[in-house]
Amino acid sequence: MKSSAEHWDRVYESRIEEALTWFEADPALSFGLVGRFALPGDPVVDVGGGASRLVDRLLEAGYGPLTVLDLSATALHASRERIGARAEAVRWIAADVTEWTPGESFALWHDRAVFHFLTEPADRAAYVATMGRALRSGGIAIIATFADDGPESCSGLPVMRYSPEALAAEVDSLAPGRFQPVEAERHSHVTPKGNLQNFQVSVFRKTEAG
Ligand SMILES: C[S@@+](CC[C@H](N)C(=O)[O-])C[C@H]1O[C@@H](n2cnc3c(N)ncnc32)[C@H](O)[C@@H]1O
Repeated sequence: MKSSAEHWDRVYESRIEEALTWFEADPALSFGLVGRFALPGDPVVDVGGGASRLVDRLLEAGYGPLTVLDLSATALHASRERIGARAEAVRWIAADVTEWTPGESFALWHDRAVFHFLTEPADRAAYVATMGRALRSGGIAIIATFADDGPESCSGLPVMRYSPEALAAEVDSLAPGRFQPVEAERHSHVTPKGNLQNFQVSVFRKTEAG
């Protein structure tokens, strides 16, 4: 079953940001990838961005226009408070990505640790359909999930685990020929308690056919 906004609001209300297992003081891998595949001026969306500091770094570096979407209004509020006046330059959307109708065409879609919560095939299909509508032709999708040897759950919820090949096969089965794998890497995230969580990070390009 899909997780609810109430679940995620409770998570963000019950712990300080720095104690969340997925917390990164410096989202360097994501920032580096966005920087390689987008130019300042390109519309970028961080899907399930939560309270991530990626938006801070992108703002500082002059990227954007930026959109951050998350189920949890509490998480988005935390980011807005942290960022202060510059948060006005960001579009904040409290929504479920599987039900979202994008109002514009993005050059880059970033998702760190969101797709892997979609354990139902229908939700994964809705996510990939939204990603297809949100991205312009040639647009880039960066999708980071737990790796095939990563954790089996997060925040009390079951997750799907993927190798880059399995993720590419899943995306292609849901949108045949629409997303071409560009590159992928493994990444070990160190949680605030010092535990290792293995991720895979895949980059896709939306094809002209998409
Ligand atoms: C593990 S956290 C990762 C947050 C952020 N990407 C980061 O790297 O810090 C997962 C995030 O996905 C959000 N989320 C989960 N399911 C979602 C959905 N269906 N639509 C939008 N956001 C969702 C949660 O609210 C949470 O903020």
